[in-house]
Amino acid sequence: MVVRRPSSLTDEDWHAKRWEVAELFTPSAPVTTADLFAGRHAQITKLLDVISERGRHAIIYGEPGVGKTSLSQIIKLIVPTKASRIRYIRKTVFSSDTFSSIWMDIFRDIKFVADIGEGNKEFSVSDLYPREGVKPADVVRELSIFSENDIPIIVIDEFNLIRDQNASRLMAETIKALSDEGAKATVVVVGISDSVADLIDGHQSITRCTEEILMPRMDKEEMRDVVEGRIRRLGMEIEGNAKWKVINLTKGLPAFAHGLGKESAIAAISKKRLRVLEEDVDKAIDAILNSNQNSLKQDYENATHSNQARARYRQILMACALAQSDEVGYFTPKQVVDPLSSILGKDTPVDYFNDNLKEFTEEKRGRVLYRQGSSRIYRYRFRNPAMQPYVIMKGIRDGFLGDDAVKALASPEQPDLFSTM
Ligand SMILES: Nc1ncnc2c1ncn2[C@@H]1O[C@H](COP(=O)(O)OP(=O)(O)O)[C@@H](O)[C@H]1O
Ligand SMILES: [Mg+2]
Repeated sequence: MVVRRPSSLTDEDWHAKRWEVAELFTPSAPVTTADLFAGRHAQITKLLDVISERGRHAIIYGEPGVGKTSLSQIIKLIVPTKASRIRYIRKTVFSSDTFSSIWMDIFRDIKFVADIGEGNKEFSVSDLYPREGVKPADVVRELSIFSENDIPIIVIDEFNLIRDQNASRLMAETIKALSDEGAKATVVVVGISDSVADLIDGHQSITRCTEEILMPRMDKEEMRDVVEGRIRRLGMEIEGNAKWKVINLTKGLPAFAHGLGKESAIAAISKKRLRVLEEDVDKAIDAILNSNQNSLKQDYENATHSNQARARYRQILMACALAQSDEVGYFTPKQVVDPLSSILGKDTPVDYFNDNLKEFTEEKRGRVLYRQGSSRIYRYRFRNPAMQPYVIMKGIRDGFLGDDAVKALASPEQPDLFSTM
């Protein structure tokens, strides 16, 4: 795209750009077009393999906000087929759903034509069942009726919300049976979870016929793709420092790349600039921190409030956010030591803050952290991953990071302190 000289843009052009920003950057909605979907090549390849192989199904799991729903939505757009027809059905689970109600919603989207004495009419498969009457064998039967030219893909999203224990077990049995029957349909179960075992009861019986796809956080290249790709589509550009600051602050969570990218672009546009600068990103950080729509603001206050001037909750939480963590966001107390020592400018062994970590897992502090394991090997993570970038931005605003660390944030290679991604 040609970057035009700003002076040649009319007020109307600037308004149009601002409008376009909101269409391209979607911090609160999944990606629905393939060309706006960044990276994820390994996961896409796995999913396509699953779809192409009869009898295989997939489970996509991981932290909230990493892009599970987006992947499960765009997959239908990138199946490389000319002759066949993709039959894509998606069902979002509610906590009130049962095994039968999930499949009734899916059956509603499977149509067939029949003549019951009134000429040919279209019906839904769901017309054939009472609301609570669907059993695994029914699913196997109904999913076998697709024609040879169809590629049926059935996505069941937010599966973690299911409360009905039975539903989870029955789903595993159904997937097993679908696989044994060699049904053409591919079932993709999607949900928030650290592990497949936590997501689906009885998953052991389906390990051989399912591909378990962990959605990790995005790496820097993918993040860069999210931000730069969109800025370029706007006919704009972003300078290096600004770009790396956005990327490094997001901690691999694409929603923040959208949020910061959006506010930065708007800041540049409001100055009638086509180049996004670091100062625009700083404005974006303020916009995100000050937004009252952001429930993170209240959660942060709950987690860190104190009447004591000497309390260090905010600094300790910041150190947690900066701590080196594993693929699904867990860190150990030991990993908090370095960032906290750096923030407070003194040695802070685990004993210094261990009790505070525990407090962060309690109701009084809004359970901002989640703890796993036994006392010798506790591991922690942010209960809501989005809290992590928020805490870092807040900490920067509160001056917890030295100038060098803040500067390092705007460069591609970060010191250890920041290498969580
Ligand atoms: N591959 C991607 N490229 C660009 N943006 C993405 C990508 N994956 C996710 N996003 C963005 O990240 C945010 C969270 O995505 P979503 O699919 O809803 O995650 P999840 O289902 O894991 O909670 C949304 O703002 C979405 O637009
Ligand atoms: Mg989702």
